[in-house]
Amino acid sequence: MPETLTFTPEVAAATESIYEKVKDSVPRFEWEMHAPLIYEINRLKKERNAIILGHNYMVPEIFHGISDYVGDSLGLSIIARDAEADVIVFCGVHFMAETAKILNPSKTVLIPDLDAGCSLSESITPADVRLMKERYPGVPVVTYVNTPASIKAETDICCTSANAVAVVESLGVDRVIFLPDEYLGQNVAKETNVDVILWKGRCMVHEQFTVEEIEAYRAQYPGIEVIAHPECSPEVCDVCDFVGSTTAMIDYLDEAKSTHVIMVTECSMSDNVMEAHPEFEFVRPCTICPHMKKITLEKTLASLQNLQYEIHLEEELRLRALTAVERMIEIGRKD
Ligand code: 13P
Ligand code: SF4
Repeated sequence: MPETLTFTPEVAAATESIYEKVKDSVPRFEWEMHAPLIYEINRLKKERNAIILGHNYMVPEIFHGISDYVGDSLGLSIIARDAEADVIVFCGVHFMAETAKILNPSKTVLIPDLDAGCSLSESITPADVRLMKERYPGVPVVTYVNTPASIKAETDICCTSANAVAVVESLGVDRVIFLPDEYLGQNVAKETNVDVILWKGRCMVHEQFTVEEIEAYRAQYPGIEVIAHPECSPEVCDVCDFVGSTTAMIDYLDEAKSTHVIMVTECSMSDNVMEAHPEFEFVRPCTICPHMKKITLEKTLASLQNLQYEIHLEEELRLRALTAVERMIEIGRKD
């Protein structure tokens, strides 16, 4: 192992302040493996003039250790659009890195593992979207950002979990086609008079939570605050205290009425917010996203070393997808 990838006194000293942030979720013996990688990634970032964008679902050593910016899909899209660094490494899933490339094409956009996908992205094809448009002529298409560029290119406007209702209402129409997340679409439909035509895509993580599970936690921990992501079913969202994007879920902690909290979402969320909110105790009925968890420190280091895996988009496709993404960003955060 090269000198820089061993836990030397220099590495220990340089990373101790990061360890303070993750110490409640990362055991000390494990840290001795992470710290040399973190040290080398942070050194190489400067050499490459690179930034790392880390989604809220990254493991704590990525979220706190190497990310220059953290956030939800909307927040990270805006940061990617405005980034001036030569290289953007996206520690998230493929559609997020692709959205960064759509918005900032002159940069080298990298994802550490090309297989970090998303069950929603895989739930629909461009041919499906064209079929929906044929079936409902003239009805605008709103597409969740959790889709590939080829789907965005068929779309009038994108949305994220931070602005889905506002995007739907911005169109000033009675009816929209909403793709591909059925549950997010149903949750939007509850909050608007616009008629929402749905697709049958699901998030493989959030579809697993059930009302019975939430009710059992409420019985076990009376008064507990339950915060959910809108990719959960409408029935689950109905029995939660707050529903919002991953960043909105974190922000909501500032107004939580109990110090006992359940985040009904991906497992790393609670770990990542513990440092900023030591007053809370988190009960964790969480589920791991196997796609997000493909992103590791080792692969991020290889990504920076070898400039892999670069996102490439055909220009005509990028431009068609760009219109829908820019319209989404114009609406901004509304959750
Ligand atoms: P956010 O935009 O709320 O971060 O959600 C992204 C995601 O993939 C949730 O599963
Ligand atoms: Fe996709 Fe669900 Fe994973 Fe988010 S948590 S990336 S929506 S599979």
